Amino acid sequence: MCGIVGYVGPRPSQDILISGLARLEYRGYDSAGIAVIDESGALDSRKRAGKLAVLRDDLARTPLPAGTTGIGHTRWATHGGPTDVNAHPHIADDGRLAVIHNGIIENFAALKADLLSDGYEFKSETDTEVAAVLLGRAYHENGEDLQAAFRDTVGQLDGAFTLLAMHQDHPGLVVGARRNSPLVIGLGDGENFLGSDVAAFVEHTRNALAIGQDQIVAITPDAVSVTDFDGAPVEASPFEVTWDAAAAEKGGWSSFMAKEVSEEPEAVANTLRGRIQDGAVVIPELADLDDLFTGIDRIIIIACGTASYAGQVGAYALEQWTRLPVHVELAHEFRYRDPVIDERSLVVSISQSGETMDTLMAVKYAAERGARTLSICNTQGATIPRESDAVVYTHAGPEVAVASTKAFVAQITAIYLLALHIGRVRGVLSPVEAAEHVRELEAVPGKIKRILDTEQEHTTQLAHWMADTRSVLFLGRHVGFPIALEGALKLKEISYIHAEGFAAGELKHGPIALIEAGQPVFVLVPSPRESSLLHDKVVSNIQEIRARGARVIVIAEEGDAAVLPFADEVLRIPLAGPLFEPLLAVVPLHIFAMGLATAKGLDVDQPRNLAKSVTVE
Ligand code: F6R
Repeated sequence: MCGIVGYVGPRPSQDILISGLARLEYRGYDSAGIAVIDESGALDSRKRAGKLAVLRDDLARTPLPAGTTGIGHTRWATHGGPTDVNAHPHIADDGRLAVIHNGIIENFAALKADLLSDGYEFKSETDTEVAAVLLGRAYHENGEDLQAAFRDTVGQLDGAFTLLAMHQDHPGLVVGARRNSPLVIGLGDGENFLGSDVAAFVEHTRNALAIGQDQIVAITPDAVSVTDFDGAPVEASPFEVTWDAAAAEKGGWSSFMAKEVSEEPEAVANTLRGRIQDGAVVIPELADLDDLFTGIDRIIIIACGTASYAGQVGAYALEQWTRLPVHVELAHEFRYRDPVIDERSLVVSISQSGETMDTLMAVKYAAERGARTLSICNTQGATIPRESDAVVYTHAGPEVAVASTKAFVAQITAIYLLALHIGRVRGVLSPVEAAEHVRELEAVPGKIKRILDTEQEHTTQLAHWMADTRSVLFLGRHVGFPIALEGALKLKEISYIHAEGFAAGELKHGPIALIEAGQPVFVLVPSPRESSLLHDKVVSNIQEIRARGARVIVIAEEGDAAVLPFADEVLRIPLAGPLFEPLLAVVPLHIFAMGLATAKGLDVDQPRNLAKSVTVE
């Protein structure tokens, strides 16, 4: 939530800041702003409510004076509505100091009261302006030493924050700090960058430094220094960004979401790449970590939203292939209920961004309780993997659309790899069994591709016909249940219509009362080959809702003729083992949600009220 970019170097900063913000806009799009120190040494800023395009147009009409030091921000509002005044940067010290912020400063009210009693004035309702004014006061109390003042200020703040600041007395210097909120450094040649994530600067450099919690960074064109909050130097960890700027471009696609759905086959294939040798799973990142898996007696998966549904799907495989009890929980619920965890628990977190605050806090809580922690994450240099004992990266590439699609299939793939690894390490799975599952996994990219080739047009057309629908229900059993939840979440998230996912067996316990004539219901039908019992139960559920007037859209495997008499529409997926069906069945649901939102004329990439990376609790 909120995107942050900073630049120092020889080039005019305005274009660099705006293009960095364009790549970070998925983090928040309520308002945007930049500040630069111009060639005369004065600090200038511009900020506007609305999407980045509003600011960009404004700057095109009346550009700021050129300057080579700058900071920029794209906002997801927390304190104070999305107005020009509440947009960042916030300016203090008589217009000479600019501050941008991501996070929530929890003690801002007390700090503000103190500053007000000292005669300071405020223009906005934000917690950020309090940090700016506090820094302005500290600047003078610390002999106009910006870095000392910054240390003094962050030491007074409670909560989660990434802060960047610059002062017109110090052109060529941007200072930043982080606590439980993301910030990475981009290392250029005679120029340096700061960003909420590497997307902010990947078009300029792929050399990056990850900084830890409670650390402060100062960048000048030729140097980067990192200290703790007390000023003691610390080592930052270098890493190379593995994707290039083009990966985060829309290319010729109508939306990032359309591009990312089309990349689902590669997201799975790339997550498998380099992790299968002679039919066996070999995860290099876990090579020396067998003790992480032998000394445990339970697995707890924690995640939020779509990532939690990936966890729910993965739990079936984890339990089946490791014979360990597996429990899946929403990260924001987990740590508030005194869960039973200890050093024999493995807590697996799943997060595309690696920055979701709820998940991060749950991981820290688990580690404090002595649990072992493993992160499944799509973002290098992110906080959650750094806070975990081990990480298995998904290689879905940058996901820009707010609604997660390709990361979801990559997450399931990574959990399956992990489950196969643990099953082998614990001696539960035989090499032959494991090899059979590996073969299934390796076939998934081609099967997703086939769905995209054969079902996309039909599914999109269906979505267009249903553009006026006010409510859609989704039913699934076993691994189909979390896919029903994912189908519903995707639809409500980007098309703003009521959608709910149910376990099909739960229907008669209440939700069937919702069914009336014409109610669209998607039903995920398990393969009849592997479990005719489960298949037949779902077909019975279809008949029950059909009898009450539901319009039934079935997702069933190719050749399943039993569904035909009861379905208004059938979307086909290729044959796969039961645990692998979710990786296929979700694809038409992603296409459907996107098609319906598009038919309604909505922005599928940046749905209202949302931001991609939820870095506040
Ligand atoms: C839904 C969606 C969200 C995220 C959730 C967790 O389409 O994208 O529900 O899955 O906010 O985000 P990460 O995976 O970054 O922790």
